[in-house]
Amino acid sequence: SNEQMEARVWEIKKELGGRLFIPGHHYQREEVIQFADVTGDSLQLAQLAAKNREAESIVFCGVHFMAETADILTTREQTVILPDMRAGCSMADMADIEQTERAWTKLQAMYGDTILPLTYVNSTAAIKAFVGKNGGATVTSSNAKEMVSWAFSEKQRILFLPDQHLGRNTAYDLGIPLDKMAVWDPHKDELIYDGNVEDVLVLLWKGHCSVHENFTTKNIVTLRIERPNMNIIVHPECRREVVEMSDYAGSTSYIIDKIEQASPGSEWAIGTEMNLVKRLINKYPDKNIISLNPNMCPCLTMNRIDLPHLLWSLESIVSGVRFNPIEVPQEIANDAILALNRMLERA
Ligand code: 13P
Ligand code: SF4
Repeated sequence: SNEQMEARVWEIKKELGGRLFIPGHHYQREEVIQFADVTGDSLQLAQLAAKNREAESIVFCGVHFMAETADILTTREQTVILPDMRAGCSMADMADIEQTERAWTKLQAMYGDTILPLTYVNSTAAIKAFVGKNGGATVTSSNAKEMVSWAFSEKQRILFLPDQHLGRNTAYDLGIPLDKMAVWDPHKDELIYDGNVEDVLVLLWKGHCSVHENFTTKNIVTLRIERPNMNIIVHPECRREVVEMSDYAGSTSYIIDKIEQASPGSEWAIGTEMNLVKRLINKYPDKNIISLNPNMCPCLTMNRIDLPHLLWSLESIVSGVRFNPIEVPQEIANDAILALNRMLERA
Protein backbone atom coordinates (compact mmCIF):
# COMPACT_ATOMS: atom_id res chain seq x y z
CA SER A 1 0.00 0.00 0.00
CA ASN A 2 0.95 3.65 -0.24
CA GLU A 3 1.38 3.90 3.52
CA GLN A 4 3.76 0.96 3.53
CA MET A 5 5.77 2.44 0.66
CA GLU A 6 5.96 5.81 2.40
CA ALA A 7 7.05 4.24 5.66
CA ARG A 8 9.78 2.32 3.85
CA VAL A 9 11.04 5.49 2.11
CA TRP A 10 11.31 7.26 5.49
CA GLU A 11 13.11 4.24 6.88
CA ILE A 12 15.67 4.17 4.06
CA LYS A 13 16.21 7.92 4.29
CA LYS A 14 16.95 7.53 7.98
CA GLU A 15 19.24 4.59 7.41
CA LEU A 16 21.29 6.30 4.67
CA GLY A 17 21.35 9.74 6.29
CA GLY A 18 23.72 12.16 4.57
CA ARG A 19 24.91 9.48 2.15
CA LEU A 20 21.64 10.04 0.28
CA PHE A 21 20.48 13.34 -1.22
CA ILE A 22 17.07 13.81 -2.83
CA PRO A 23 16.59 17.05 -4.79
CA GLY A 24 13.06 17.63 -6.08
CA HIS A 25 11.88 20.00 -8.80
CA HIS A 26 8.78 22.11 -8.12
CA TYR A 27 6.85 20.19 -10.80
CA GLN A 28 7.16 16.86 -8.98
CA ARG A 29 4.16 15.07 -7.52
CA GLU A 30 3.25 15.62 -3.87
CA GLU A 31 3.84 11.92 -3.11
CA VAL A 32 7.47 12.43 -4.15
CA ILE A 33 8.19 16.01 -3.12
CA GLN A 34 7.40 15.18 0.53
CA PHE A 35 10.65 13.20 0.61
CA ALA A 36 12.84 15.82 -1.08
CA ASP A 37 15.75 17.14 0.99
CA VAL A 38 15.58 20.32 -1.07
CA THR A 39 13.13 21.67 -3.61
CA GLY A 40 13.89 24.28 -6.19
CA ASP A 41 13.76 25.54 -9.73
CA SER A 42 16.28 24.20 -12.19
CA LEU A 43 18.90 26.85 -11.34
CA GLN A 44 18.68 26.24 -7.59
CA LEU A 45 18.86 22.48 -8.04
CA ALA A 46 21.95 22.82 -10.24
CA GLN A 47 23.60 25.09 -7.65
CA LEU A 48 22.79 22.66 -4.84
CA ALA A 49 24.13 19.70 -6.80
CA ALA A 50 27.35 21.61 -7.43
CA LYS A 51 27.71 22.18 -3.69
CA ASN A 52 26.89 18.73 -2.33
CA ARG A 53 30.01 16.65 -1.83
CA GLU A 54 28.76 14.38 0.97
CA ALA A 55 26.09 12.26 -0.70
CA GLU A 56 27.21 9.07 -2.43
CA SER A 57 23.81 8.72 -4.05
CA ILE A 58 21.74 11.56 -5.43
CA VAL A 59 18.25 10.44 -6.34
CA PHE A 60 17.07 13.15 -8.67
CA CYS A 61 13.34 13.78 -8.65
CA GLY A 62 12.97 15.75 -11.84
CA VAL A 63 13.63 15.04 -15.51
CA HIS A 64 16.58 13.54 -17.38
CA PHE A 65 18.40 16.77 -18.32
CA MET A 66 18.37 17.88 -14.67
CA ALA A 67 19.89 14.58 -13.57
CA GLU A 68 22.55 14.91 -16.29
CA THR A 69 23.37 18.41 -15.06
CA ALA A 70 23.68 17.09 -11.51
CA ASP A 71 25.97 14.32 -12.71
CA ILE A 72 28.20 16.81 -14.53
CA LEU A 73 28.42 19.07 -11.47
CA THR A 74 29.12 16.36 -8.89
CA THR A 75 32.23 14.24 -8.43
CA ARG A 76 33.02 10.89 -10.00
CA GLU A 77 32.47 9.20 -6.66
CA GLN A 78 28.88 10.44 -6.47
CA THR A 79 26.16 8.59 -8.38
CA VAL A 80 23.13 10.41 -9.73
CA ILE A 81 20.06 8.24 -10.13
CA LEU A 82 16.88 8.99 -12.08
CA PRO A 83 13.99 6.93 -10.66
CA ASP A 84 12.42 6.46 -14.11
CA MET A 85 14.51 6.63 -17.28
CA ARG A 86 11.40 7.62 -19.27
CA ALA A 87 11.26 10.92 -17.41
CA GLY A 88 12.63 12.98 -20.29
CA CYS A 89 11.68 16.45 -21.49
CA SER A 90 10.06 16.80 -24.89
CA MET A 91 11.58 20.25 -25.27
CA ALA A 92 15.11 19.01 -24.63
CA ASP A 93 14.53 16.33 -27.26
CA MET A 94 13.72 19.00 -29.86
CA ALA A 95 17.39 19.84 -30.36
CA ASP A 96 19.60 16.90 -31.21
CA ILE A 97 23.30 17.29 -31.65
CA GLU A 98 23.47 16.40 -35.37
CA GLN A 99 20.81 19.01 -36.20
CA THR A 100 22.68 21.52 -34.08
CA GLU A 101 26.05 20.87 -35.73
CA ARG A 102 24.40 21.23 -39.15
CA ALA A 103 22.69 24.46 -38.13
CA TRP A 104 25.95 25.84 -36.77
CA THR A 105 27.81 25.15 -40.02
CA LYS A 106 25.13 26.90 -42.05
CA LEU A 107 24.85 29.82 -39.66
CA GLN A 108 28.62 30.28 -39.59
CA ALA A 109 28.56 30.42 -43.37
CA MET A 110 25.89 33.13 -43.21
CA TYR A 111 27.18 35.17 -40.30
CA GLY A 112 30.80 34.23 -39.78
CA ASP A 113 32.14 34.40 -36.26
CA THR A 114 29.47 36.76 -34.92
CA ILE A 115 27.24 34.29 -33.04
CA LEU A 116 27.42 33.07 -29.45
CA PRO A 117 25.38 29.94 -28.69
CA LEU A 118 23.30 29.81 -25.51
CA THR A 119 21.25 26.87 -24.37
CA TYR A 120 18.43 26.67 -21.91
CA VAL A 121 19.37 24.05 -19.30
CA ASN A 122 16.41 22.10 -20.69
CA SER A 123 18.70 20.44 -23.22
CA THR A 124 20.80 17.30 -23.49
CA ALA A 125 24.35 17.15 -22.15
CA ALA A 126 25.57 16.89 -25.76
CA ILE A 127 23.98 20.25 -26.59
CA LYS A 128 25.50 21.81 -23.48
CA ALA A 129 28.87 20.42 -24.57
CA PHE A 130 28.44 21.93 -28.05
CA VAL A 131 27.63 25.30 -26.50
CA GLY A 132 30.50 25.07 -24.02
CA LYS A 133 32.96 24.24 -26.76
CA ASN A 134 31.87 27.26 -28.77
CA GLY A 135 32.29 29.79 -25.96
CA GLY A 136 28.65 29.93 -24.90
CA ALA A 137 26.74 29.23 -21.72
CA THR A 138 23.65 27.62 -20.31
CA VAL A 139 20.74 29.73 -19.03
CA THR A 140 17.72 29.00 -16.88
CA SER A 141 14.44 30.82 -16.72
CA SER A 142 15.61 32.68 -13.62
CA ASN A 143 18.82 34.10 -15.11
CA ALA A 144 18.04 34.25 -18.82
CA LYS A 145 18.11 38.06 -18.89
CA GLU A 146 21.56 38.31 -17.30
CA MET A 147 22.92 35.57 -19.53
CA VAL A 148 21.55 37.00 -22.77
CA SER A 149 22.96 40.44 -21.85
CA TRP A 150 26.31 38.82 -21.18
CA ALA A 151 26.15 37.00 -24.53
CA PHE A 152 25.62 40.31 -26.33
CA SER A 153 28.67 41.75 -24.61
CA GLU A 154 30.65 38.90 -26.21
CA LYS A 155 29.18 38.68 -29.71
CA GLN A 156 26.86 40.55 -32.01
CA ARG A 157 24.34 37.72 -32.32
CA ILE A 158 23.04 34.80 -30.28
CA LEU A 159 21.75 31.36 -31.16
CA PHE A 160 19.26 30.36 -28.46
CA LEU A 161 18.52 26.64 -28.01
CA PRO A 162 16.09 24.87 -27.74
CA ASP A 163 13.14 27.00 -26.48
CA GLN A 164 12.12 29.69 -28.93
CA HIS A 165 9.67 31.17 -26.42
CA LEU A 166 12.10 31.70 -23.54
CA GLY A 167 14.60 33.08 -26.06
CA ARG A 168 12.09 35.45 -27.63
CA ASN A 169 10.59 36.60 -24.33
CA THR A 170 14.01 37.28 -22.85
CA ALA A 171 15.42 39.12 -25.85
CA TYR A 172 12.22 41.17 -26.10
CA ASP A 173 12.52 42.16 -22.42
CA LEU A 174 16.03 43.36 -23.17
CA GLY A 175 14.69 45.69 -25.84
CA ILE A 176 15.43 43.66 -28.95
CA PRO A 177 12.56 44.13 -31.42
CA LEU A 178 10.76 41.06 -32.73
CA ASP A 179 11.78 41.88 -36.29
CA LYS A 180 15.39 41.32 -35.34
CA MET A 181 14.62 37.74 -34.34
CA ALA A 182 14.42 34.76 -36.67
CA VAL A 183 13.55 31.12 -36.14
CA TRP A 184 15.86 28.30 -37.17
CA ASP A 185 13.90 25.27 -38.38
CA PRO A 186 15.98 22.17 -37.62
CA HIS A 187 13.83 19.92 -39.80
CA LYS A 188 14.17 22.03 -42.92
CA ASP A 189 17.67 23.25 -42.02
CA GLU A 190 16.69 26.80 -42.77
CA LEU A 191 16.14 30.19 -41.25
CA ILE A 192 12.57 31.47 -41.22
CA TYR A 193 12.83 35.20 -41.88
CA ASP A 194 11.26 37.66 -44.33
CA GLY A 195 13.72 40.54 -44.28
CA ASN A 196 17.43 41.02 -44.78
CA VAL A 197 19.18 38.27 -42.80
CA GLU A 198 21.96 40.70 -41.89
CA ASP A 199 19.49 42.44 -39.54
CA VAL A 200 18.92 39.36 -37.41
CA LEU A 201 20.39 39.50 -33.89
CA VAL A 202 18.62 36.59 -32.25
CA LEU A 203 18.45 33.14 -33.82
CA LEU A 204 15.78 31.12 -32.07
CA TRP A 205 15.77 27.35 -32.27
CA LYS A 206 12.34 26.07 -33.22
CA GLY A 207 11.59 24.20 -29.99
CA HIS A 208 8.92 24.66 -27.36
CA CYS A 209 7.42 23.16 -24.22
CA SER A 210 4.22 21.31 -25.00
CA VAL A 211 2.95 21.87 -21.45
CA HIS A 212 3.34 25.66 -21.54
CA GLU A 213 2.00 26.01 -25.07
CA ASN A 214 -1.35 24.95 -23.59
CA PHE A 215 -1.77 28.37 -22.00
CA THR A 216 -3.36 30.52 -24.67
CA THR A 217 -4.38 34.09 -25.35
CA LYS A 218 -7.93 32.74 -25.46
CA ASN A 219 -7.59 31.60 -21.83
CA ILE A 220 -6.51 35.14 -20.94
CA VAL A 221 -9.23 36.90 -22.92
CA THR A 222 -11.90 34.72 -21.25
CA LEU A 223 -10.48 35.33 -17.82
CA ARG A 224 -10.17 39.09 -18.27
CA ILE A 225 -13.90 39.19 -18.99
CA GLU A 226 -15.06 36.70 -16.37
CA ARG A 227 -12.69 37.56 -13.53
CA PRO A 228 -11.36 41.08 -14.11
CA ASN A 229 -9.53 41.16 -10.75
CA MET A 230 -7.38 38.16 -11.55
CA ASN A 231 -3.64 38.65 -11.64
CA ILE A 232 -2.19 36.53 -14.39
CA ILE A 233 1.26 35.06 -13.87
CA VAL A 234 2.97 32.72 -16.33
CA HIS A 235 6.23 30.90 -16.94
CA PRO A 236 8.38 32.41 -19.76
CA GLU A 237 8.12 29.12 -21.68
CA CYS A 238 4.68 30.41 -22.70
CA ARG A 239 4.33 32.01 -26.12
CA ARG A 240 5.21 35.70 -26.57
CA GLU A 241 1.55 36.76 -26.97
CA VAL A 242 0.63 35.02 -23.72
CA VAL A 243 3.46 36.62 -21.78
CA GLU A 244 2.58 39.98 -23.37
CA MET A 245 -1.02 39.78 -22.12
CA SER A 246 -0.08 38.53 -18.64
CA ASP A 247 0.69 40.68 -15.62
CA TYR A 248 3.82 38.81 -14.56
CA ALA A 249 6.17 36.23 -16.02
CA GLY A 250 9.02 34.33 -14.42
CA SER A 251 10.56 31.03 -13.37
CA THR A 252 8.91 28.55 -11.03
CA SER A 253 10.66 30.14 -8.02
CA TYR A 254 9.56 33.59 -9.13
CA ILE A 255 5.96 32.37 -9.34
CA ILE A 256 6.18 30.80 -5.88
CA ASP A 257 7.64 33.97 -4.32
CA LYS A 258 5.04 36.16 -5.95
CA ILE A 259 2.15 34.05 -4.66
CA GLU A 260 3.70 33.85 -1.21
CA GLN A 261 3.94 37.64 -1.03
CA ALA A 262 0.44 38.23 -2.42
CA SER A 263 -2.16 39.61 -0.02
CA PRO A 264 -4.95 37.41 1.36
CA GLY A 265 -8.03 37.53 -0.83
CA SER A 266 -6.05 38.39 -3.96
CA GLU A 267 -6.83 36.43 -7.14
CA TRP A 268 -4.23 34.60 -9.21
CA ALA A 269 -4.37 32.62 -12.43
CA ILE A 270 -1.15 30.70 -12.93
CA GLY A 271 0.22 29.50 -16.26
CA THR A 272 2.54 26.69 -15.36
CA GLU A 273 2.66 22.97 -14.62
CA MET A 274 -0.23 21.43 -12.69
CA ASN A 275 1.59 19.97 -9.68
CA LEU A 276 3.02 23.36 -8.77
CA VAL A 277 -0.32 25.11 -9.25
CA LYS A 278 -2.09 22.51 -7.09
CA ARG A 279 0.55 22.85 -4.38
CA LEU A 280 0.09 26.62 -4.28
CA ILE A 281 -3.70 26.26 -4.16
CA ASN A 282 -3.40 23.94 -1.15
CA LYS A 283 -0.73 25.99 0.58
CA TYR A 284 -2.59 29.31 0.38
CA PRO A 285 -6.30 28.67 1.00
CA ASP A 286 -6.68 32.39 1.84
CA LYS A 287 -5.78 33.39 -1.74
CA ASN A 288 -7.91 32.63 -4.79
CA ILE A 289 -5.64 30.62 -7.05
CA ILE A 290 -6.58 28.83 -10.26
CA SER A 291 -4.79 27.40 -13.30
CA LEU A 292 -4.82 29.78 -16.27
CA ASN A 293 -5.96 26.85 -18.39
CA PRO A 294 -8.98 25.31 -16.60
CA ASN A 295 -7.89 21.88 -17.86
CA MET A 296 -4.80 21.94 -15.60
CA CYS A 297 -1.65 21.10 -17.51
CA PRO A 298 0.50 18.25 -16.23
CA CYS A 299 4.02 17.55 -17.45
CA LEU A 300 3.65 13.85 -18.19
CA THR A 301 7.35 13.13 -17.97
CA MET A 302 7.82 14.93 -14.64
CA ASN A 303 4.89 12.85 -13.42
CA ARG A 304 6.60 9.59 -14.29
CA ILE A 305 8.57 9.92 -11.09
CA ASP A 306 6.11 8.52 -8.58
CA LEU A 307 6.27 6.86 -5.19
CA PRO A 308 6.81 3.30 -6.49
CA HIS A 309 9.70 4.45 -8.74
CA LEU A 310 11.25 6.48 -5.94
CA LEU A 311 11.09 3.51 -3.57
CA TRP A 312 12.47 1.16 -6.24
CA SER A 313 15.50 3.46 -6.67
CA LEU A 314 16.07 3.69 -2.95
CA GLU A 315 15.84 -0.08 -2.48
CA SER A 316 18.42 -0.49 -5.22
CA ILE A 317 20.81 1.74 -3.27
CA VAL A 318 20.25 -0.23 -0.09
CA SER A 319 20.98 -3.47 -1.92
CA GLY A 320 24.13 -1.96 -3.41
CA VAL A 321 23.15 -2.11 -7.12
CA ARG A 322 21.99 1.47 -7.76
CA PHE A 323 19.63 1.15 -10.72
CA ASN A 324 19.30 3.91 -13.35
CA PRO A 325 22.58 5.73 -12.87
CA ILE A 326 22.96 8.81 -15.09
CA GLU A 327 26.49 8.84 -16.42
CA VAL A 328 27.38 11.57 -18.87
CA PRO A 329 30.45 10.46 -20.87
CA GLN A 330 33.56 12.26 -19.65
CA GLU A 331 34.39 14.00 -22.94
CA ILE A 332 30.87 15.44 -23.12
CA ALA A 333 30.91 16.41 -19.44
CA ASN A 334 34.25 18.24 -19.89
CA ASP A 335 32.76 20.59 -22.48
CA ALA A 336 29.30 20.83 -20.91
CA ILE A 337 30.78 22.00 -17.64
CA LEU A 338 32.31 24.99 -19.42
CA ALA A 339 28.82 26.13 -20.40
CA LEU A 340 27.40 25.44 -16.93
CA ASN A 341 30.24 27.21 -15.14
CA ARG A 342 29.93 30.31 -17.31
CA MET A 343 26.39 30.49 -16.00
CA LEU A 344 27.05 29.52 -12.39
CA GLU A 345 29.76 32.13 -11.99
CA ARG A 346 27.36 34.84 -13.19
CA ALA A 347 24.04 33.81 -11.69
P1 13P B 1 12.34 26.39 -13.92
O1 13P B 1 13.72 26.72 -14.31
O2 13P B 1 11.49 27.59 -13.77
O3 13P B 1 12.35 25.51 -12.72
O4 13P B 1 11.67 25.56 -15.10
C1 13P B 1 12.11 24.31 -15.49
C2 13P B 1 11.17 23.68 -16.41
O5 13P B 1 11.33 22.58 -16.88
C3 13P B 1 10.02 24.45 -16.81
O6 13P B 1 9.26 23.73 -17.68
FE1 SF4 C 1 10.19 19.88 -20.33
FE2 SF4 C 1 8.01 21.39 -20.44
FE3 SF4 C 1 8.07 19.30 -18.81
FE4 SF4 C 1 9.53 21.50 -18.28
S1 SF4 C 1 7.31 21.33 -18.32
S2 SF4 C 1 10.21 19.37 -18.15
S3 SF4 C 1 10.11 22.11 -20.38
S4 SF4 C 1 8.19 19.25 -21.07
